[in-house]
Parts: sequence; C-alpha cells; structure tokens
Amino acid sequence: MNEKVLNHPLITHKLALLRDVGTGTKVFRELVTEISIFVMYEAMRDAKLEETTIETPLEKMETGMLNEDHYAVVPILRAGMGMVDGILNVIPNAKIGHIGLYRDEETFQPVEYYYKMPEGIADREVLVIDPMLATGGSASATISRLKQDGVTRVKLLCIVAAPQGIKRIEDDHPDVQIFCATVDRELNENAYILPGLGDAGDRVYGTK
Ligand code: PRP
Ligand code: URA
Repeated sequence: MNEKVLNHPLITHKLALLRDVGTGTKVFRELVTEISIFVMYEAMRDAKLEETTIETPLEKMETGMLNEDHYAVVPILRAGMGMVDGILNVIPNAKIGHIGLYRDEETFQPVEYYYKMPEGIADREVLVIDPMLATGGSASATISRLKQDGVTRVKLLCIVAAPQGIKRIEDDHPDVQIFCATVDRELNENAYILPGLGDAGDRVYGTK
C-alpha cells in the first residue's frame, strides 16, 4: 500500500467543517491550510536531516536540520494553490513550480494549460499538492510530466481521495507515496467524490 491516510480525531473534526456546505470561503481556505499542515507533517516523517552543530544558551550540541533547498512544491492549479500556505508553513524556503490542468467536463481527462518549474527540478524531491484525488487523472498526468523532466522522487499530498484515484496512482506510478487526510467512498457519475466536499477550486476561490 502506497497511501498513508491521516487517522486522527482532529482531522475528522476539521474535515467535517470543510465538507459542510454551509462553510464559507474564508473558513474553507483556513481549514485547507490547517489540514495541509497535518498532511505535510506526515509526508515529512522520513525526511533526511543534515548533521549540524548549534549552540543553545547553555552549550553546543550536535543535531539534525532539514535542507529546505532539496524540496520543490508543485500545486496543481487551481485548487492545489489552496494548500500552498499550509505547506510553506512547514518548509518556508521550498521552491514552487506550477502546473495548470483542468478536467474536461465530458471526458474527465486532464488538459494541461501551464507548466513552469524551478531550476534543477530533477534534483529535488517534489511534493505534488492538490486537495482532491478523484479519478487520479490530473495527479497522474502531473507526475508523468515531472518524470519527463527527470524528476525521480515524488510524493503526492491531498486532502480527500477516492479509492479509484489511489488505485490509478498505484498503477501508473507505483514509486509515488500518497498522503491524504481521508479516503472517501466512491465517485459519482460526474467523477465527483462522495461524500466529498464539492468542487474544491470553486470553494477555495468562491467561483460558484
Ligand atoms: C479538480 C481537483 C483536481 C482534479 C481531480 O480540479 O483540484 O485537480 O479536479 O480530479 P481527477 O483526479 O479526476 O483528475 P479541476 O479540474 O476541477 O480544476 P480547478 O482546480 O481549476 O477547479
Ligand atoms: N474535483 C473536485 O474539486 N471535487 C471532486 O469531488 C472531484 C474532482
């Protein structure tokens, strides 16, 4: 199993608020940020630290520190942008790349409209972020595109995943670990996640 699902009462609580149709744009954005921090915490559990010496007010000590230059964060536009603040709370110096994809409303296939990555992307560990993993088409296409550029280390961070999306990533990219706050029941006939939270992009940006 390549997926790690956060299983914690605080996450269930915050997801309940996030899912609720009565939650407005401001609170929705704040919750996406908060939940993203928790997802990121789990995704960084195996992070490699560099040995360093620091000085406390009392003495010198050997410890480990993260080299934030090793990371790039790639939000899938638009909704992925909603998670950026949360991720940057954890690694403020990460470089950020952008990929623009939308799902064709009839075929549900992702269509790329923008792609811009930081220099040296192939040498970085890339954290792809998108709150929704539905059919998995958008995330899979993003990872394939990054691999074309030589990227070899990818983690996928999302908030709500569907079983179909997880399976798609496991089939297409067995090397990629998925970190999500929850796995929901199924997709409906329009490939929306049930029970889900609706259209994440529309809720982050207030477009509907
Ligand atoms: C949503 C979501 C994912 C994608 C998930 O984006 O943010 O990128 O759908 O669906 P999939 O797993 O079936 O590909 P959408 O295409 O609605 O674009 P938006 O972020 O611009 O609203
Ligand atoms: N994209 C969304 O924003 N929500 C879904 O449920 C599925 C895809």
